[in-house]
Amino acid sequence: MKKTPKKTWKDYYKQQKKLTPRKTLVIALQNIEKANQAFYAVDLGCGSGQDTLQLLSEGWTVMAIDSSPTAFEFLLKKIPTPLQERLLYQCRPFENAYWEEADLVNASFSLPFCPKDQFNNLWKHIVFSIKKGGWFAGQFFGDRDDWKNLTLHSEKEVKRLFKNFEIVYWEEEEKDCETATSKELKHWHIFHVVAKKIK
Ligand SMILES: C[S@@+](CC[C@H](N)C(=O)[O-])C[C@H]1O[C@@H](n2cnc3c(N)ncnc32)[C@H](O)[C@@H]1O
Repeated sequence: MKKTPKKTWKDYYKQQKKLTPRKTLVIALQNIEKANQAFYAVDLGCGSGQDTLQLLSEGWTVMAIDSSPTAFEFLLKKIPTPLQERLLYQCRPFENAYWEEADLVNASFSLPFCPKDQFNNLWKHIVFSIKKGGWFAGQFFGDRDDWKNLTLHSEKEVKRLFKNFEIVYWEEEEKDCETATSKELKHWHIFHVVAKKIK
């Protein structure tokens, strides 16, 4: 069984330094009616902060959450001082974090790292915290992904998570390629999802 490489998140953040915002966030932002923007987003597993920066640049207030202290060293260097006025952050696991009702919960490549036995509670918290008419953007790793130590979901299971949502963007990606921190090939199975809460 393949496991996540024994690299640190710092190695990952160094690789991601010049990364642009994730496609799922960009699609969510394109779909959100500007007139309705109440401007509060939560970025779960924000990492070095490319999505947080994009949200702040577009006028949002952002609660950035990550369990790695190093993430915030990278993130704070990236965010220009005037934008930091609208930045809130918590260095703690998202399964123990708190945040207010949000217009958008963004979770780019982070939810698979939630411990398996805590995922259901975390997901309930996420759904509960998204306002009716609010949005989710992010990724799940599928059941054919190589990293079996993470929290993986079948297509059916992911679709079930969104029973109170309209799925606006759905992409299933399956490929063999290297990871951000290793040249060794890995089988990726990813569901990219953007969804609007309708119930
Ligand atoms: C693959 S990185 C993704 C970072 C960023 N969102 C991106 O798209 O590049 C996963 C991030 O989730 C964070 N993470 C992993 N487990 C976590 C947990 N239980 N609670 C909060 N953050 C966690 C890691 O520290 C890391 O920054």
